[in-house]
Amino acid sequence: ASPLRIGLAGLGTVGSGVVRMLARRRDGLAAATGRAVEVVAVSARDRNRPRDCDLSSVRWFDDPVALAKDPDIDVFVELIGGHDGPARAAVEAALGAGTPVVTANKALLAHHGIALAAAAEASGAGLYFEAAVAGGIPVVKTLREALIGNEIERVSGILNGTCNFILTKMQDEGVSFEAALAEAQALGYAEADPTFDVDGFDTAHKLAILASLAFGLAPDPEAIHIEGIRSITLADLNAAEELGYRVKLLGVALRTATGVEQRVHPTMVPKHWPIAQVSGVTNAVAVDGDAVALTLVGPGAGGDATASAVVADLADIAAGRGAKPFGIAASALRPAELVAIQGH
Ligand code: NDP
Ligand code: HSE
Repeated sequence: ASPLRIGLAGLGTVGSGVVRMLARRRDGLAAATGRAVEVVAVSARDRNRPRDCDLSSVRWFDDPVALAKDPDIDVFVELIGGHDGPARAAVEAALGAGTPVVTANKALLAHHGIALAAAAEASGAGLYFEAAVAGGIPVVKTLREALIGNEIERVSGILNGTCNFILTKMQDEGVSFEAALAEAQALGYAEADPTFDVDGFDTAHKLAILASLAFGLAPDPEAIHIEGIRSITLADLNAAEELGYRVKLLGVALRTATGVEQRVHPTMVPKHWPIAQVSGVTNAVAVDGDAVALTLVGPGAGGDATASAVVADLADIAAGRGAKPFGIAASALRPAELVAIQGH
């Protein structure tokens, strides 16, 4: 079969990780999918920046939208970030041209997911985003495919690696909030604007996607109560510890009598609960279905972990496996509403 030709926009932490992983796993992917998966064209801002990956035989585009429209790519991979601007323009251009899109951009999906899913369905292109929620944890496929037989009651967990890294560093090593955030940024975990991490918006973006997959709701950050970790002090963490708790930033989406409650906030978790022991950049997502309840734990951010999820989507496309982006038709997703907090 002919190779699957990838056009990849964004060569930062995740993008360069994807290029390296595709090179490393070249033979394994071809054996598994029946096709070679090759990066043939890329886009980023600075052509001269060292990337720690081999780009010697790929075409360069200064403009990601031009790359997205290139007729000589089979898939467009968006790893730029931001819910508007070039990322959105390029994804819309690719879907409009009938080219499948793989993205790790949860902000884009939380704000424009329904329109993008409708565009993907209309053109038959496909929109894939395993990497957008909880980094390397395969929770999108788990909810959309593996647990399809379940009525989901609740999805919750630690969905932001940067915040969990900061809280762990503060509590276990006495590191300051600012120093822990700087370390998370240096390791490539934080968003380009880390406000999205520490103020809870990134967790909310991921929760909006999970609530869509679990409950058939249109992703909508406006329907989520959001509080981040900026005001948490070491004294708060120590007081919680003395009382037998760890503080975790949780995202919770829960079916209630009045609708699906969605909330993000720091939470005192009893120390002996498994989720209290999830530390550093690790994420944990608990899904309560009527038949199966499970918790997935794994790396929530970082180049290799996130590349693993992007490559899984590329393998699906290479093998001809498709799914509706949010599991059901975009037109069938119900509006999400801000529901008063009642649950636990
Ligand atoms: P980086 O900031 O490391 O990389 C962003 C890349 O986009 C850079 O290569 C940059 O170019 C390029 N870029 C920015 N603006 C433009 C533009 N106008 N045209 C072309 N290229 C542009 O981000 P990450 O790799 O960390 O994140 C990428 C996406 O993945 C984001 O949506 C993020 O939320 C998501 N994500 C990130 C995770 C992580 O652990 N980092 C985990 C899961 C998802 P240049 O290099 O030249 O500056
Ligand atoms: N900034 C995000 C985090 C990246 O720390 O979890 C992974 O989505």
